[in-house]
Amino acid sequence: MMSAVIALGGSLLRPEIEERHKWLEDISRVIESRSGRNLKIGIVVGGGSPAREGINLIKPIIEDLESLDRVGIAATRFNATIIREVFLKRGIDINSTIPKNIDEAIEIFNRHSVLIMGGTNPGHTTDAVAIRLAISYGASKCIIATNVNKVFEEDPKINPEAKSYNFMTLKELKRIVGPAEHSKAGYSQVVDPIGVDDALSNGLTLNVLDGRDASLIGKCLDGEDFRGTVIQG
Ligand code: UTP
Repeated sequence: MMSAVIALGGSLLRPEIEERHKWLEDISRVIESRSGRNLKIGIVVGGGSPAREGINLIKPIIEDLESLDRVGIAATRFNATIIREVFLKRGIDINSTIPKNIDEAIEIFNRHSVLIMGGTNPGHTTDAVAIRLAISYGASKCIIATNVNKVFEEDPKINPEAKSYNFMTLKELKRIVGPAEHSKAGYSQVVDPIGVDDALSNGLTLNVLDGRDASLIGKCLDGEDFRGTVIQG
């Protein structure tokens, strides 16, 4: 059976936005209609605002990066639980417990049409977890759903004129995101450089798209134009 893995950026749960309920409905519909007999879908949810909130709360009193990462991981699992409950309500065949590592995730993924999880260990973000899951499971597609529509040469919030890519190689993406290091908790790049290195060593193609529009995730799963960036593995 074919399988796809999606890194769902935590910012997409957007607690500050009115239409967040519509987004949850939209993403459920997209996943419900594509998962099942022919396609398994693994989803790794990011920490978003609860991760930032928790990390900022303890940062002034705890400097240890691993401690901060553990708070971030708890937030990713919290967000994964929210999505899980929404999918469950819709009748999607999904796991009942959130796996804590890739081995557990694979074992669960074998038994359900949809797998949902958050982070695993300190030292990287959920993008890296999604990329590792895609490689380990032999997924045919890996999607990074984030809150920008493409990969840009520089942060478009800082330079609105920054060049964007429709296609690029993983080597080009590596030049943009820099070395595979995890130096700050809760700090976000378009794709986690640790995941980019893993994708590069395993020849995994990445698809970056704007997950704020859930229909683009559906388009990418369907093999249609998703108006994002294809990063060739
Ligand atoms: P995210 O995956 O949400 O990272 O994990 P991010 O890139 O900062 O945020 P988004 O995806 O753009 O919203 C939040 C934080 O949790 C820790 C890291 O500190 C990360 O920055 N984390 C997460 C881990 O240490 N390990 C994991 O497997 C996942």
